[in-house]
Amino acid sequence: MSKVSETPRIIIFDTTLRDGEQAPGASLTHREKLEIANALAALKVDVIEAGFPIASPDDFEAVKAIAGSVQGPVIAALARTIEKDIERAGQALVPAKKRRIHTFSSGSDIHLKSMLKMTRAQNIERSVRAVKFARTFTDDVEYSAQDTTRSDRDYLVDLYTAVAEAGATTLNIPDTVGYAVPEEYTALIAYIAGRIKVPGIVFSVHCHNDLGLAVANSLSAIKAGARQIECAINGLGERAGNCALEEIVMAIRTRADALQAHTDVNTRELYRVSRMVSRMTGIAVQRNKAIVGANAFAHEAGIHQDGILKERTTYEIIRPEDIGIEGAELVLGKHSGRHAFRDKFSRMGIVLSDEEVERAYVQFIALADKKKHIYDDDLLAIVRDGFDAVPNAYELDYLHVSAGTGTVPTATVRLRKGAQVRQDACCGDGPVDAALKTIDRITHIHGVLLEFSLQSVSVGKDALGEVTVRVSFGTETVSGKAASTDIVEAGTKAYLACVNRLLFNRARQGKAACPRGKA
Ligand code: KIV
Ligand code: ZN
Repeated sequence: MSKVSETPRIIIFDTTLRDGEQAPGASLTHREKLEIANALAALKVDVIEAGFPIASPDDFEAVKAIAGSVQGPVIAALARTIEKDIERAGQALVPAKKRRIHTFSSGSDIHLKSMLKMTRAQNIERSVRAVKFARTFTDDVEYSAQDTTRSDRDYLVDLYTAVAEAGATTLNIPDTVGYAVPEEYTALIAYIAGRIKVPGIVFSVHCHNDLGLAVANSLSAIKAGARQIECAINGLGERAGNCALEEIVMAIRTRADALQAHTDVNTRELYRVSRMVSRMTGIAVQRNKAIVGANAFAHEAGIHQDGILKERTTYEIIRPEDIGIEGAELVLGKHSGRHAFRDKFSRMGIVLSDEEVERAYVQFIALADKKKHIYDDDLLAIVRDGFDAVPNAYELDYLHVSAGTGTVPTATVRLRKGAQVRQDACCGDGPVDAALKTIDRITHIHGVLLEFSLQSVSVGKDALGEVTVRVSFGTETVSGKAASTDIVEAGTKAYLACVNRLLFNRARQGKAACPRGKA
């Protein structure tokens, strides 16, 4: 068996900021995208797909900012096989030291006929033109044909051969609809890779998780010669999401013996980035999620606990520290000063301005009055709650609920909007319902609560309860999170965070023109 370092290196192409951000309700602000991109660079991914610049002026600016400030990985931008898309991608990438244009079309007849209204020949011609044009901006051009797993294989060989000859350096073979099963996908990659005669091509895979097979399919492609895997933190992405970065990387690392491959990812950053992405997108990580879920290293059964206490490897194939979990560390107390406070955040990789330290410190002291022990997770909740990069149009100023057996649940809410203070009261089916209805009355914005989930942030009866909500406002669905020792307050703040995000999104220019459905 070869030494791990001598096995083929798998290029990790992260698409959290592009396909991941297409997950319903996951929209990120400019600052959040930059923070995530920096965290991905610290994780040492090879390529960051920073966005789809033609989608909106905001996406363009975010890609440009990432290209100009994030060091290390190649920065990629997505573009359809349309000249204006490629031009926009090329312009956004100008500041990057290492830049890639990723242009895509489709391979299946169903996409060509029903969506793109093109013949197979026209698609080849347009793809070739797009690749040649992309090469005028950079030597690093990736081409993808969507829906390859429902496409005619020989047509795919013709299409990929033509774009490779036109100058594409990476050929990505996506399972856009998550339809493949592993052996079939291995065979597809082998079939195409075996027939493309252009030297130096990197074959890449991009698997969606509609059947829960994204990671398995991506791994199976390594055997067929794929050397790039496209994936996203926490498996975010369209519909059921993409191949989860943390899972594929830890599978390759843990089973290097079976897979005969390695990556250069710094796995000790995985947990931190996963938490950051969950915090910023408002999309919670399910408890039993592989690698980064809260239960991933929890042992409940007596036999398992006994085994673990005697020898960890009896039931653990990965050490928590390998992904950067140091345990729910007891950190600060009521008497901790600002210096220790700031230092703690910077050790968690969160850089706060002086003003943010002040704001966070006030919240920390208020929390320390309610709760004896403050853990890392509590501090992260403070940052998430108080520093949502979305400016708060409305702030919760006062909340009083009366509820209990035999009483009609009623809420009184006072919101502050700039210098104005508005107050109202309402009854509901429960205290949370009453509070949210009151917010609707004050703001005149009516949301439909699609999801409400509650998790304990740390441990103990006085733990912070973190509420994640998903709210539909007509055509737009947004997510929000908030934490408090009082769960009604957490729910109310999470809902208000959604209202604020909605207003922020509406204020952003040009979002309406976003052609996202096409990626
Ligand atoms: O799922 C898909 O096919 C894509 C392409 C743009 C690569 O996201
Ligand atoms: Zn995709």
